Amino acid sequence: MNQRTVRVFPTLQEVSRAAAAHFEKLARAKPGKKEAFSCALSGGLTPRLLYQILGSDAFADRIRWENAHLFQVDERCVPADHPDSNYGMIRETLLSRVSIPDSHVHRMRVEMEDRDEACRQYAKELSRALRPKEGELPRLDMVFLGMGPDGHTASLFPESEALEERTLWVRPNYIAKLQTYRLTLTFPVLNAAADVVFLVAGADKARTLRQVLEGPLGRFPAQRVQPTSGRLSWFVDEAAAHLLSSALRG
Ligand code: 6PG
Repeated sequence: MNQRTVRVFPTLQEVSRAAAAHFEKLARAKPGKKEAFSCALSGGLTPRLLYQILGSDAFADRIRWENAHLFQVDERCVPADHPDSNYGMIRETLLSRVSIPDSHVHRMRVEMEDRDEACRQYAKELSRALRPKEGELPRLDMVFLGMGPDGHTASLFPESEALEERTLWVRPNYIAKLQTYRLTLTFPVLNAAADVVFLVAGADKARTLRQVLEGPLGRFPAQRVQPTSGRLSWFVDEAAAHLLSSALRG
């Protein structure tokens, strides 16, 4: 398995600051115009503070947003102004505060009746922006992921169909326990990324985090994120990390 890094921080604030610094480092590593920086953002609560930091005045001139492409990792099938909308949260915390060209913000069009068509269109956006070679997967420079207490990540929930998807880059996924559909990037795309960072915080995730990081493979979707030729990091707070072995905590 590729090299995996686990970094434990006292609080979510420090997790978020470290994640913002990591984003900045990767974004600045991309040379000029031709080489745009691409990052896929998760929804949920954990990354809010990270996005607020990236959208803050302190970061205003540290990121060349005109050279960045932002994608979604997944989306709930609700309108953008619905409180559950991942895009709505990303727009409120980040997009509304930075000067990134509209054409560089790639929103999953969950309002489309035909969810499969919405995913096909999204895959085309990935292809246009990342220009993979024929038959190759699009390689995102960076992906921020979260993890639920059940070990799901993106909208790849335990026992859901999309876990087994090997071909489609983006697809609808029915989440039985939530009785709803979501659109999600699939493992092939997540594992093609150059740098994947999990942000995990809160005591309610401590048991699952220990099993995901130190238990046998296979039980949790988050364990199946193993970048083929990329870096995998876990930025976690003390509350989520308190059951981890000292060896792992570095
Ligand atoms: C979503 C996310 C999802 C999230 C986890 C953790 O759409 O909800 O993409 O995978 O990362 O559910 O969510 P919290 O950060 O809210 O705990």
